[in-house]
Amino acid sequence: MNYPTRVKLVDVGPRDGLQNEKTQVPAAVKVELVHRLQDAGLKEIEVTSFVSPKWVPQMADNAEVMAAIERRADVRYSVLTPNLQGFEAALQTRPDEVVVFGAASEAFSQKNINCSIAESIERFRPVVQAALDAGIAVRGAMSCTVGCPYEGDVAPERVAYLAGLLKGIGVQRVDVADTIGVGTPRKVQRAIDAALQHYDIDSVSGHFHDTYGQALSNTLAAMELGVWNFQSSVAGLGGCPYAKGATGNVSTEDVVYLLHGLGIDAGIDLDKLVDAGKFISDFLGRKPNSRVATALLNKRQQT
Ligand code: HMG
Ligand code: MG
Repeated sequence: MNYPTRVKLVDVGPRDGLQNEKTQVPAAVKVELVHRLQDAGLKEIEVTSFVSPKWVPQMADNAEVMAAIERRADVRYSVLTPNLQGFEAALQTRPDEVVVFGAASEAFSQKNINCSIAESIERFRPVVQAALDAGIAVRGAMSCTVGCPYEGDVAPERVAYLAGLLKGIGVQRVDVADTIGVGTPRKVQRAIDAALQHYDIDSVSGHFHDTYGQALSNTLAAMELGVWNFQSSVAGLGGCPYAKGATGNVSTEDVVYLLHGLGIDAGIDLDKLVDAGKFISDFLGRKPNSRVATALLNKRQQT
């Protein structure tokens, strides 16, 4: 099997990870989490989202968090921007990349961003144009590429359709997201193949939630196709307020351990990453949702 020789991870913990937490996490804690992630070697971090605070109260401190992080020149800081209002607020905080987020299923599009797929593209169009004009990179998240909490199975054709629309408005790269973590390897590969009808392999990333415990297998299945960009969440944090029952993303610790075992260097210090996951888990009052973090923390106690 020819896996990619390099893999790049975007840690989405500060955004996807924390957006679903009921208790407000102070901005200072979010900032420290970002700092710990970059200390561990992450080169891409999804910091926050510029969405309505009525819809996602946890992200209301977006500008405060962006202003307080000590940036490194070699780290890319991304934020979610669903519309021009969000983009204009985000622009003030100088993100390196903005993320428009659409869905392969109509019902999820309505529940998550309050509009149809077609309407979402019209909202994204000026965002993409303004971002590119300002020299900011643009990524497109594609939710529900395998299954939808409201519609059930999602056909690969729906993914190809959305990828084509995003390509048509200038989105530079896309995430194939299994929002509710129902995917299994072949299904996820079919969703990726659909995205590959419009984007090349360097521009497609995997974003797998781990609800059914398949996210690591799905990561490997995506790597079989040559995908080398993935989103993961430190301590397995995450979930979407509009996808009830879905748990967090595949944990960054588990992906890094897998990569190390395959002899692939993602440039991440696993011990420091485990510390970052423990830091945020301690704050949230629970254990990291990562088998690797649990094993390594137990091992530390034994020595
Ligand atoms: P809307 O109600 O249709 O927006 O919401 P609107 O344009 O009609 O405006 C209504 C009100 O919202 C107005 O305020 C606007 O100012 C305000 P009011 O006059 O009532 O006081 N508003 C905003 N405020 C702040 N920032 C903005 C903004 N836009 C409007 N950008 C909207 C549309 C998209 C804003 C709303 O549906 C929303 O915020 N949704 C949040 C969705 C979200 O954040 N979901 C989680 C992230 S996606 C995810 O997790 C999936 C992903 O991880 C991949 C995967 O796993 O699948 C990416
Ligand atoms: Mg997600």
